[in-house]
Amino acid sequence: MNSVNDCKIINLHKIHNLAGNIVSLENIKNIPFEVKRIYYLYDVPMGSERGGHGHYELEQFIIAASGSFTFIIDDGMNKKEFFLNNPSKALYIKSGMWREIKNFSSGSICMVLASHKYQESDYIREYKEYLKYKNDTPLI
Ligand code: TYD
Repeated sequence: MNSVNDCKIINLHKIHNLAGNIVSLENIKNIPFEVKRIYYLYDVPMGSERGGHGHYELEQFIIAASGSFTFIIDDGMNKKEFFLNNPSKALYIKSGMWREIKNFSSGSICMVLASHKYQESDYIREYKEYLKYKNDTPLI
């Protein structure tokens, strides 16, 4: 069973160029899972809060492709806050985490590389249900 301490910021290799930088991501090579889906949030109105759900299996790589926002990761016991504002850094979210997203800057783009295709059955939409899932799941 993962904890918030297993979720971390990963520095991505940046190909630096005076005419603009490149970050290249490849399955397995620099992403610790096989990417099955990519999606991004954009045009998020100022003050909006997103997320507010858990996932059973999904692992994600979150990149602030533009602008900034804050992820709050919660494992039912502890919470950890990650401010993302750099396209050459990714937040790696392990399976079994609850997440909230807030403080989107104007024009921000939250790009997500995901380990699974979209499946509503992988979501836990109620926090009470999430806590029950965490409490019912053995630590090993
Ligand atoms: P959701 O993941 O709840 O949004 P967020 O965590 O960003 O607040 O998704 C919002 C809606 O979009 C929900 O109805 C499901 C749908 N959706 C898809 O159809 N495919 C996807 O890949 C994602 C991420 C969401």
